[in-house]
Amino acid sequence: MNFVECQQALDAADQGHVLKFWEKLSAEEQKSLLEQITTLNFDDISRMASYLDDKGQAAVQADFAPAESVELTGDERLKAWERGEALLRDGKVGIILVAGGQGSRLGYDGPKGAYAIAPLTGATLFEIHAHKILALSERYGKPVPLYVMTSEGNDAATRQCFADNDNFDLPVEDVHFFVQGKWPALDPDGKIILEAPGRIFFSPDGHGGTLSALLNTGMIADMTSRSLSTLFYFQVDNPVVEIADPAFVGLHDLRNADISLKICEKRDPDEGLGVVVVRDGLHGMVEYTELSDAEKQRTDADGNLWLRYGSIAIHVFSLSFLEQEARADLPIHVAHKKVPMCDVDGKTVKPDEANAYKFEKFIFDVLPHANTVVNLVCAREDEFSPVKNAEGADSPASCRADMSAKFARWLEQVGVAVPRDGDGQPSVTIEIDPMFALGPEELRQRLPEEGIVIDDDLLLGASPCEV
Ligand code: UTP
Repeated sequence: MNFVECQQALDAADQGHVLKFWEKLSAEEQKSLLEQITTLNFDDISRMASYLDDKGQAAVQADFAPAESVELTGDERLKAWERGEALLRDGKVGIILVAGGQGSRLGYDGPKGAYAIAPLTGATLFEIHAHKILALSERYGKPVPLYVMTSEGNDAATRQCFADNDNFDLPVEDVHFFVQGKWPALDPDGKIILEAPGRIFFSPDGHGGTLSALLNTGMIADMTSRSLSTLFYFQVDNPVVEIADPAFVGLHDLRNADISLKICEKRDPDEGLGVVVVRDGLHGMVEYTELSDAEKQRTDADGNLWLRYGSIAIHVFSLSFLEQEARADLPIHVAHKKVPMCDVDGKTVKPDEANAYKFEKFIFDVLPHANTVVNLVCAREDEFSPVKNAEGADSPASCRADMSAKFARWLEQVGVAVPRDGDGQPSVTIEIDPMFALGPEELRQRLPEEGIVIDDDLLLGASPCEV
């Protein structure tokens, strides 16, 4: 849009102030501002402003109950596993990795995926995920395309990280990057915030933005052209995720589900995981912040927490449902935050207190639209150890220990003794590259018949000679 078009659009939306420093901007800044204005979706912005009345925190109705969960064992597990393997062998499965977040709690200067997490080699989150996908595609003899969602702030650095590492050996044609949408922040009067005279403050539109971004950037078209049916979705910060776990993918398919979720037992009643519930016959997610203490603490007849399981943001989508939801308007979530904004003279001021509203979409808001939802229970220690904080729970240190402990269990499952300390924790550090083994079954095949003795840290690397 040119200046006049931008001005008209802004005036029509009562956002004319965005051009208030126009005369003071250089030609380059003017050009950039027009480009930014062109990206604004005024329908979205008016929807956001309407959320400011109740700050999006509408009370959750009390009449919900935890959704049904599935524990997959025995024959049922085997059947699901076989179906999942068949889908992988037919090349029907693709992977969506969401990596557009800002990682503010971790405080790492770069895309979170480039964070070195492996306990011995320091392999990055991206490398670990990529090696799992490469190992899957080698195991099943078909491409397993990877769709990586970035955001404007980390897109270039993410692509660079893959390029610098030869795409972690994944075929270039099977890795796609797509940038999620961005939304402006609004002041309490619903006005777009300028962080500098020629710069609108934008932030990523949340992991729910995955859906519209997949559509708008041609990723859904790519999935369709590859005849994919099933998409495995996960977050960048969890290196113990079982990517495209055949049993999970297969169960989703056997049940004709629209969306499936992995859930695990909450650490304690106060853990901040969302819970899948049914309300008025529809599925939905209740967030931790929406629960009363009584609801969090409530137990069932067996003494288990009533809201026992939390969602760990590992999903499977059917492509048809993904496409349907990419065209839907998801609800908007509002957060009161500190947002830098320019004062009357155009000077950027960093506030000490929350001064503005940021907006996001959440992926789980598709749940009420799904006809069939499967909630598969998994063991937290095997599948969920996110890197969220710099220290303490869910930090790099806790995650490295969880990775090593998981590999120790695999070794013990195949008959290798792992030295443990008085608390039962492995007293050595263990790392197994996904290209060496994706699980205990492959580990059994890859280890020498006479087994191995562990008396020090153990690295089973990508190539067999590293045993
Ligand atoms: P989190 O909600 O944990 O956010 O994202 P974060 O940005 O990683 O970390 P904080 O909250 O700033 O400390 C969970 C997952 O969703 C992705 C993240 O990259 C992560 O994989 N995400 C989040 C996006 O892709 N886009 C977003 O807008 C938000």
